[in-house]
Amino acid sequence: MSGIEFLGTGSYVPEFVADNDKFSEILDTSDEWIFPRTGIKQRHIATDKPNYYMGAQAAKRALESAKFNPEDVNLIIVSTCTPDFFYPAMSCLIQKLIGAKNAACFDVNSACTGFITSMDIAQKFLDTGKYENVLIVSTEKLSNQTDYTDRASSILFGDAAGAVLIKRSDKTYTSFLGAEGDEFEALYCKVHYHPNCPWFGDIDEYYEHRFDTEGKQNYLVQDGKAVYKFAVNAMANAVKTAAEQIGLDISELDLVIPHQANLRIIEKAAENMGIPPEKLFTNIKHMGNVSSACIPVGLDEMFKAGKIKPSMKICFVGFGAGLTYGSIIMEV
Ligand code: UT7
Repeated sequence: MSGIEFLGTGSYVPEFVADNDKFSEILDTSDEWIFPRTGIKQRHIATDKPNYYMGAQAAKRALESAKFNPEDVNLIIVSTCTPDFFYPAMSCLIQKLIGAKNAACFDVNSACTGFITSMDIAQKFLDTGKYENVLIVSTEKLSNQTDYTDRASSILFGDAAGAVLIKRSDKTYTSFLGAEGDEFEALYCKVHYHPNCPWFGDIDEYYEHRFDTEGKQNYLVQDGKAVYKFAVNAMANAVKTAAEQIGLDISELDLVIPHQANLRIIEKAAENMGIPPEKLFTNIKHMGNVSSACIPVGLDEMFKAGKIKPSMKICFVGFGAGLTYGSIIMEV
């Protein structure tokens, strides 16, 4: 099985910052509650830009950093759970904005696990030899789905985009993807339809009564405690399973970039795996949770800081609505 080489990375973080004090102005909450329980001090919100704009900016920056002609991109995979349209796919909008007219395009939605899923799909496409390079863009505008009257969920989320341009390599690569659909009620956001079809009967009772939170049909709904409990075990299991597949001891990893949902989840999972803090990337303090964009934004930060060196063994691990989870271990 072939591996993956990063040709370029890029990210886009909106200018507007909502710190914890801004939330105290609109909700009964405080920095004293939020920071110790989540590790979050602030998040960025795209107040005047659509999601595809953020994705296109991150994509352009990834191509620039690789000095790569957009017309040479073979495939664009966009991961997002906050698309601007039902269709077309966000990847088609981004293709237009960056001028990648020769690329095939599709989107992936495995929520916060989306970057890992997209990388794994891309690896399979590259492995066939038919595709030379793939642009992955993870772009998320959680502010479109956040209920800003719900203090337990609204304080977690922000907006951002990250992108990577990759090609095939002969370095080590392994992955693990999992899902527990039984747990899907722990985190969901319904699509809102106007029932104006003249032939509609009663909507399925299960759907109607079980998932309609009154007045909140358009919002993200979350059972925070259930997600928390799932996440700690899922992250540790995903990394252990991937490491076992290639006979790697977790202590041999040089860097772990986890999904940034809650600092306590990250630290507890890392402790369970025996990963020391100096090998653990976090940026949740200034970014909050930006769903599938967390990992590529973090990766871009680490590349820009010169902290990713050839032959390093890095691990991406995440979880999200679904509930989905997954990990990748690869040599850079
Ligand atoms: O990408 C995946 C996304 N989701 C996650 O990763 C979520 C994981 N879960 C969590 O991070 C935590 O469950 C939260 C941080 C969301 C919430 O922490 P918690 O300790 O599970 O709080 P809770 O929802 O059980 O609420 C405990 C109390 C409640 O008050 P009462 O009923 O005990 O009086 C809440 O109303 O804390 C209250 N509370 C708050 N108080 C001040 C909840 N949120 C806040 C808040 N400020 N922002």
